[in-house]
Amino acid sequence: MNSQQLRALLHSMSLKEKVFQLVQIPGQYFRAGVTDTGTAAEDVLSEEELTLVGSTLGVFGAESTESIQRIHMTRHPHGIPLLFMHDVIHGLRTAFPMPLALGASFSPSLVERCSAAAAEESAASGLHVTFAPMLDLVRDARWGRVMESFGEDPFLNGKLGCASIKGFRGGNGDAPLPGRVASCVKHFAAYGAAEAGRDYSGANISRRQLQEAYLPAYRKGVEAGADLVMTSFNTVEGIPVTGNKEMIKSTLRDKWGFHGVLISDWNAIGEMVAHGVCADQRQAAKLAMDCGIDIDMCSLAYARHLEALVSDGEIREEQVDAAVLRVLELKNCLGLFNDPFRYASPERENRSILSETHRALAREAVSESAVLLKNAGEKPLLPLSPDVNAVWIGPFVESRELHSAWAVSADPSDTVSVREAAEDVARAEGRLFSYVEGCPMTCREDLGPLSEENNVLRFREDNPPLLSPEAVEEPLIREAASAAGRADVVIACLGEHRLMSGEGASRGDLSLPAPQLALLRELYRTNRNIVSVIFTGRPLDLRDVCALSRSVLLVWMPGTEGGSGVLDLLTGHAEPGGRLSMSMPYSVGQVPIYYNHPSTGRPKPADTKVPRYISSYIDIPNSPLFPFGYGLGYTSFTLSEQSIETNEASLQTDGTLKPVRVSVTVKNTGSRRGKSVLQLYVRRPSDGAAAPVMELKAFQKIAFDPGEKREISFLIGYDELSHFGTDGNPSVEKGEYRIAIGLDSEVGSWLSLTIT
Ligand code: GLC
Repeated sequence: MNSQQLRALLHSMSLKEKVFQLVQIPGQYFRAGVTDTGTAAEDVLSEEELTLVGSTLGVFGAESTESIQRIHMTRHPHGIPLLFMHDVIHGLRTAFPMPLALGASFSPSLVERCSAAAAEESAASGLHVTFAPMLDLVRDARWGRVMESFGEDPFLNGKLGCASIKGFRGGNGDAPLPGRVASCVKHFAAYGAAEAGRDYSGANISRRQLQEAYLPAYRKGVEAGADLVMTSFNTVEGIPVTGNKEMIKSTLRDKWGFHGVLISDWNAIGEMVAHGVCADQRQAAKLAMDCGIDIDMCSLAYARHLEALVSDGEIREEQVDAAVLRVLELKNCLGLFNDPFRYASPERENRSILSETHRALAREAVSESAVLLKNAGEKPLLPLSPDVNAVWIGPFVESRELHSAWAVSADPSDTVSVREAAEDVARAEGRLFSYVEGCPMTCREDLGPLSEENNVLRFREDNPPLLSPEAVEEPLIREAASAAGRADVVIACLGEHRLMSGEGASRGDLSLPAPQLALLRELYRTNRNIVSVIFTGRPLDLRDVCALSRSVLLVWMPGTEGGSGVLDLLTGHAEPGGRLSMSMPYSVGQVPIYYNHPSTGRPKPADTKVPRYISSYIDIPNSPLFPFGYGLGYTSFTLSEQSIETNEASLQTDGTLKPVRVSVTVKNTGSRRGKSVLQLYVRRPSDGAAAPVMELKAFQKIAFDPGEKREISFLIGYDELSHFGTDGNPSVEKGEYRIAIGLDSEVGSWLSLTIT
């Protein structure tokens, strides 16, 4: 349809028909193949109202979406097709490593490929929109949804977010390509700043932090062509974002020029009553519409009150028209008016879901995102030598729950477990393999109150029972300790259960589950050669794990090919390519902790002995256990003195800046080919406020052969030196900039560049 036809359609609709185009309902109304990701509303729609809705979420599958669409088209008075939306966060049925793992890959191309594969499976299954990427900046590992973010850095989040959007949509064009899906950036804005790491609590951050750290990645996502933006549950400066005119109209619509569809998060409109900002659902509907929220996800506030608000003159019908037109334009750009069934294809679905290509990519992504935190000793244990007699111990050896809490459509039965992969390798390469459970995954208490009706958290019947603390069987641990004593090396596969992170899964303690720490201590008693493989949705307090292990490999929640990827890493067929995109705290007491923090009036000098009357703790260090950007490989690198082609540059009259080259020579000093992630950090001068002590502004992930030496350069231009002021506009301060290239954020020497 062209725009005239769309407007004609709009004007042929009754007010009620328009209002219901803005209503999104959970797929359970249609029952077939539904994955619920929120709580069911008390209020429900009538059959007649159901025929009018504009979109649904949580339903996928070529056959079920086709049959639902066919029925809907016949019932809708204007034959307007439904939009099918879903949380395809890191894969539909092929679950890739979770986003915080992909963040550690420092690989935009990998992220793009994973999103493209997820889009193929989704489109073939009848989906039109994915609620991804999540571009919330995260600094607080207590928050369960850190697993869904790319990490703590605005620049990295922006780069990977754009790559993900390009992968989902098939490019940055006006419309997603056939066979791909529309992308919805979320959760606008600053949801990751939930106070105390407690989900849904307010984001009490300064305007400067909002502009400098939390908003840039969403802005990059809008610039990359995101088709929708989802507003968040939280408040910013006390106002729920879903009812925050300044955030939505001034920033998102006017300053950033976002003209796509704005959808609320699940019941976020209705929750403005609980926030105490709206007296009732009618007032919430009015506030949301006045802010320009187009689609009401699952609160029914629009369904119940928009018509009356128009009739009573409290909102203008033109406001409703504008929202409906954006929804119709989205359906049109997806081609749904030409062919409402062009997405659902059982043939393409069978061909793409869990295809060998997708599995191979998922397996590659495991090694590219895994972070080797420790590999100590004269002769490091990793990669394992072929003849080593290793015993595999721990709850993650057999578990198939290797996908994150947000892989809501993945089926554990499709997952390759560590045990399966290890036994395959043992057969293929003649390696010894033995396995002992050692301890249960966790205790039910670790998971908090699980609501039975929320089937994202409901345990699968085939899941091993979760035991209470007293049920941690001594014999299990004793058997494991003696098995460890008979082996050369212990591979301890430990971590957080996948449902201990994700939405609504904030934790006040970042330790491994108690039974697993007890097991590790017992193993250490009988064998010091321990490789700990850590599965987790968040940074954890790994002090004990590191003290008790010679090697520590962090594999996050690695997804469907988790077992295969882990074996590739342990046997050396692949090397750990990840570098932390979120600081690993020393303890929960440091949290929120992030590398690009503002300077303080009393910085703690590195050699301080008496930590008093300076910015420090008296009982723990300031620095994280492992810093942002950190990660080991199976080879080693040296960096030469870095150089800069000039120490002075001037802003041109038009505000631009002639790029300045910074270089360093990198050498692979090890005996095997390996990748290095070179990171460029900048410390800018103050603009009157305390500036971050450093900020990532560029990175390159490059492979080097053994002994290879190469000069690597970066160009420092306007983008690398600019920052967002409290007005949300980028600017470059005049003054001295310090620049460093490093292998992580703990850089040593700095170069100087003065901008005049
Ligand atoms: C959830 C999440 C959001 C998700 C939406 C639909 O509450 O906050 O990320 O996309 O509801 O499932």
